[in-house]
Amino acid sequence: MLYGVVAEMNRLWIFAVLFAAFFLSMAAIGLHLPRPLPASNVAPAAPPQAWPDYSPQGGGFLVPAGDQGPAIAYGYVLITRTFANIGPEVPDKAMRFAGNNLACQSCHLDAGTNRAGLPLVGIFATYPKFSTRDQRVISLAERINECMTRSMNGRALPDASSEMTALLAFLRYIGIPTPAPAEPPEAPPLPASAERGATVFATVCAACHQQNGLGVRRGSANDADGYVFPPLWGPDSYNDGAGMDRYRRIVSFVRLNMPRGVDPQHPQLTLQQAWDVSAYVIAQPRPAYRPQP
Ligand code: HEC
Ligand code: HEC
Repeated sequence: MLYGVVAEMNRLWIFAVLFAAFFLSMAAIGLHLPRPLPASNVAPAAPPQAWPDYSPQGGGFLVPAGDQGPAIAYGYVLITRTFANIGPEVPDKAMRFAGNNLACQSCHLDAGTNRAGLPLVGIFATYPKFSTRDQRVISLAERINECMTRSMNGRALPDASSEMTALLAFLRYIGIPTPAPAEPPEAPPLPASAERGATVFATVCAACHQQNGLGVRRGSANDADGYVFPPLWGPDSYNDGAGMDRYRRIVSFVRLNMPRGVDPQHPQLTLQQAWDVSAYVIAQPRPAYRPQP
């Protein structure tokens, strides 16, 4: 009887030791296995079903799971840090596609997810489409390259480049239906006046974009790190072929988004001020658009 109890205890002891050894070895293997990213750093592979918000106040961009993830993430980087990847100051000269140090999101605010700031959400499905500028049907790659050669004052990205592939993957990913087409701005009460606009510029815009309109760099010249406040004219700005150099684009953009951070539902500028300051910006010097060979 006593012997039986002792034997039983021995058996329990052996079990306990084996059990502990098993857990220790699992823990040791666990330390050496690559850990998956914490779930909170990965988005589902499927595109967002609601309008995404990649503003600093929003959820932010998360790398989607799945094989398209890296391309989509590179597309996001290209839109937000264009200057650091394909800008005129990147070390690899062959990668200097953009001619200025803007980012796509200098205009397509919050990586194209800002409804009032030239949104890119949902546009994927609208291509190929007829372009009034070109008077023919164009592909999305061609449309991207119009911003490359005009807004970015640079050269076209080759269709087969990983940059074009990445931009298309990102735009497909945020391609939920369907944005309302941009409306031209309402006409102002008085004809636009660059002279009145100069006053608006000095009192409202110069605080960020500087009185000389050349903006404020993030770091120093030639570091490929772009701007805190982008230039509105001058050699490092969009060229005179860009949509932003036209009233029908710049007036609503400025009215609804500037000063940056203003609530589009409660614009700070009157319609008249938006037209006047746009007239002032349009009157300033900028690079000339040169059609590509
Ligand atoms: C200086 C401002 C500016 C910059 C910088 C800029 N764009 Fe644009 N982009 C515009 C304007 C203005 C339009 C015209 C919007 C419209 O048609 O409603 C536009 C249109 C587009 C469209 C077509 C949208 C549509 O509704 O069909 C795409 C795609 C696009 N841009 C991609 C890019 C990419 C990619 C970059 C960076 C490589 C970029 N843009 C940089 C101003 C800019
Ligand atoms: C509080 C700072 C601030 C003020 C004030 C401000 N902006 Fe901006 N603006 C920005 C920032 C920042 C961007 C780039 C957007 C981004 O990176 O998110 C920008 C982008 C722009 C752009 C498109 C990008 C480019 O380089 O051309 C235009 C046009 C513009 N602003 C015009 C104006 C005008 C006109 C005013 C005055 C009515 C104004 N802004 C006032 C901060 C400001």
